[in-house]
Amino acid sequence: MAQENERGSDPELAVPPPKIAPSMLSSDFANLASEAKRMMECGADWLHMDVMDGHFVPNLTIGEPVIKSLRKHTTAFLDCHLMVTNPLDYVEPLAKAGASGFTFHLEAARDNWESLVKQIKAAGMQAGVSLKPGTSVTDVYPLVEGEHQVDMVLIMTVEPGFGGQNFMPEMMSKVKDLRNRYPNLDIEVDGGLGPATIEQAAKAGANCIVAGSSVFGSKDPAGVISLLRGHVLAAQCSQ
Ligand code: DX5
Ligand code: ZN
Repeated sequence: MAQENERGSDPELAVPPPKIAPSMLSSDFANLASEAKRMMECGADWLHMDVMDGHFVPNLTIGEPVIKSLRKHTTAFLDCHLMVTNPLDYVEPLAKAGASGFTFHLEAARDNWESLVKQIKAAGMQAGVSLKPGTSVTDVYPLVEGEHQVDMVLIMTVEPGFGGQNFMPEMMSKVKDLRNRYPNLDIEVDGGLGPATIEQAAKAGANCIVAGSSVFGSKDPAGVISLLRGHVLAAQCSQ
């Protein structure tokens, strides 16, 4: 039974539509603009951009200059996932570079998430918060219900840092809990999503699906994107 709250079961608000977001981490970085174009032509809703600093996670990927360069070649929603120790330092540069969504990790913003969310929104981006597998889902409630509400919660289904890891089904209890409490919230899952795991995530209530290796590793990326979307829609219809 969904609870009533600011984010709760307002019948005027529709179920949040599926958003399929190929993770560009699995793309050919030497051809990023054409890879982005290819994904949008294959039916992607968003492009997921993994920003890492080599400190919050043991990997170094892309940052503001690459997002700025890519923005010149696409009008797509750039769903930026900040796996960095100091997310506040990235708000202004990423906004200027053309980021559309800015999802920070709660583990990196325990003390300043309110001003962080405020600044993300003031900079014109959508605000998201992400939880590592070891972080309790209850920790995110204040960010969804508080004065400075996030637009999206990202539940990591792998330890952040690398593509191509195995999906963690035990994270689905977090997704179910959030969907039950917040019927209208955008809930994203990231890590190990593909044809073999989408049903669990969709039935749990995720509507934003990040998929890297399953999309880029397929000979039929449009088919995979369509399959992911179909599962989210089917699950929403049966709820
Ligand atoms: C991992 C990244 C993911 C990654 C997903 O830390 O946040 O976005 O690219 O890749 P797959 O879908 O291959 O697990
Ligand atoms: Zn990611």
